[in-house]
Amino acid sequence: MENNISDSVIRLDAEEKISGKARYLSDIEYEDVLYAKTLRSERARAKILSIDLPDIPEGYFIVGKDDVPGKNVVKIMFDDWPIFAENEVNYIGEGILLVVGPDKKVIMDIMSKINVKYEDIPGVFTIDDASQKDDKFIEYKYSKGDMKTASKNAAYVFENEYTTGYQEHVYMEPQGIVGIYNNGKITIDGSMQCPYYVKDAVVQAMELDYDRVQIRQTTTGGGFGGKEDYPSLLGCQIAVAAYKVKKPVKLVFERNEDIMSTTKRHPSKVRLKSYVDKAYKIIGMDANVRLDGGAYSGLSNIVLQRALFAVCGVYDVANVKAKGTALKTNKVVCGAYRGFGAPQSLFAVELFMEYMANKLNIDPLKFRRMNYVKKGKKSPTGGTFKEDILLDKITDKVQEMSDYKRKYKDYMSENKLKGIGMSVFFHGGGFTGNGERDIIKTRLKMKKNKDNTVEILVSNVEMGQGLATTFRKIASKTIGIPIERIIYNNPDTDKVPNSGPTVASRSILIVGKLIQEASQKIKDQWSAKDEFEVITRYRHPEEVVWDADKFIGDAYNTYAWGANVVEVEVDPLTYEVAIKGIWTVYDVGNAIDDNIVRGQIDGGVTQGLGYASMEVLKSKQGKLGQATFTDYIVPTAMDFPRIHRELVNVPYYNGPFGAKSVGELTFDGAAPAYAIAVENAIGKPLNEIPITPETIMEVMNNEDKL
Ligand code: MTE
Ligand code: MOS
Repeated sequence: MENNISDSVIRLDAEEKISGKARYLSDIEYEDVLYAKTLRSERARAKILSIDLPDIPEGYFIVGKDDVPGKNVVKIMFDDWPIFAENEVNYIGEGILLVVGPDKKVIMDIMSKINVKYEDIPGVFTIDDASQKDDKFIEYKYSKGDMKTASKNAAYVFENEYTTGYQEHVYMEPQGIVGIYNNGKITIDGSMQCPYYVKDAVVQAMELDYDRVQIRQTTTGGGFGGKEDYPSLLGCQIAVAAYKVKKPVKLVFERNEDIMSTTKRHPSKVRLKSYVDKAYKIIGMDANVRLDGGAYSGLSNIVLQRALFAVCGVYDVANVKAKGTALKTNKVVCGAYRGFGAPQSLFAVELFMEYMANKLNIDPLKFRRMNYVKKGKKSPTGGTFKEDILLDKITDKVQEMSDYKRKYKDYMSENKLKGIGMSVFFHGGGFTGNGERDIIKTRLKMKKNKDNTVEILVSNVEMGQGLATTFRKIASKTIGIPIERIIYNNPDTDKVPNSGPTVASRSILIVGKLIQEASQKIKDQWSAKDEFEVITRYRHPEEVVWDADKFIGDAYNTYAWGANVVEVEVDPLTYEVAIKGIWTVYDVGNAIDDNIVRGQIDGGVTQGLGYASMEVLKSKQGKLGQATFTDYIVPTAMDFPRIHRELVNVPYYNGPFGAKSVGELTFDGAAPAYAIAVENAIGKPLNEIPITPETIMEVMNNEDKL
């Protein structure tokens, strides 16, 4: 066995995934299976006047709103997203009904003959329009200190607005789900992040007893937040179908269907107004965050909260006023996506820092350092940063690795279309505030078997982030038995307790910690011949205090930190941007597996650079203009150079082996570092991502735009 927990092992899911042996939902065969296809709204907002159906051949079925035994609504946060459209549709791609049957060709033929008559209703399509009409799902506010004091003591006042676009998750495996009805019981198999979310949604939709619904996660080819909310909708639809036809029903999305109809990252507009004193200390931040939530609320309130808690970035600001709105538009529903709103705010804050420094004519890095938050200081919501914060060390390191100082000086003084940009950022791990204690209440089980293997029974899923390896490593290391003797299977809600969803980078921090505790109990009770189980439950750290109504206190148990440097060169003829170098430093506590953390960095940074540079997804009157990989361009391994990375580390006292969270943090800093690098290369500010060659051309050639 490895000595240090961070020493890398070969991922336990590597062999089956690389060899192609792993079976994803669409590979699994079901006896006597029927297929389903979704009839979708072609209108952004309309009344459904009538649905004319052709003759339906024997063995084929139409499944819709009237077949839902319980409430025709997907249980997510607020009950507003219908399982099947009622009398009105609210976005293009919204599911109206399913056509179910044995032969896909016949299904398509039936689909083509269904005639839906609509009466259009004027829709709302932009953040500004929705704000104007006050069409919103929710609004939050919080404050600390007093803006009047800030304003009175300010030597400088700055204000700017930043805009971010949609982002599609591009998980390698599209969404897919299977429903099976058997003897009064519904079983759902699917590619998903949160088996118990799906279970709760299906129980409500089907009005079934809790033990009559079983959810089994199938090997999941990536989620990135996109399989946090949407599988609850699919689970309900397929449960209704399976219940009606009394046979297994399979629904697997085509890629274009997936892009068109599943959730996206929220487009945002973040307006920041700052008050800065004579000594260049930011003494006030007034933030207004607006998110485009799409047609239904989904997880918008959570995304909005997390965006709001990040409006001061890694800076210590005494007076803060934050307001946020999740707006309702007639567009595809927006939901969870790696970072949950924090990337939108951090993009704004980091560009704003650069902007302020340039206006103040001081070195942007010096300006950042002067304002870094420190241990013992208060967060924007008035909580206390309780652990050491290594921002200075992180900054030193990333600067040294990238030769930032020299390059910055050279590139800023010459007009070479070369630029270098730095971002500094953080990410709170786990649910916000009291969420882990009051909402999730993680409970997990571990079982010592007679054959001296040990099984981890949790509802958290492997979706590429390495959990099947890291969880076993924590158990193996704690108990002191080889990793091969630790069993972890894709969760099945009939077998595993509810240890919460696989979201918010919480798996290691929260669940991993409880695995460590359970493993310790197993070790303490070890007896070679016996079989026994242990259960552990989440206990909230006493010192983490939160008022969920007023947003006062510690928004998170702990934070992970990082800095990214990106170097670019802009082509003077085509305005294309070549990334010349990427350097990253993170504090994620003690890494549970060095290679897995490296994988998260490579993936997160690449995804963030795609978000900032090439992932253009635009909606015109509610219709997405990009729905295939021909026009929605994501980075490949060939687009960017190798990502250099270093870890610095404050072991977290309340994490397993000192670990904190990694998954989303790695996404957060790439977009701002890239945007700042491009700004510096062209010598003009940019306030919006994605930054395409077209944008650069426009900004460089159009003085009016500034
Ligand atoms: N990495 C891979 N390979 N695939 C994924 O789907 N999801 C990300 C991140 N890293 C994801 C990933 C998101 S959105 C989250 S919240 C975390 O992983 C969740 O996993 P964790 O709790 O184990 O960090
Ligand atoms: Mo991640 S957006 O919390 O699934």
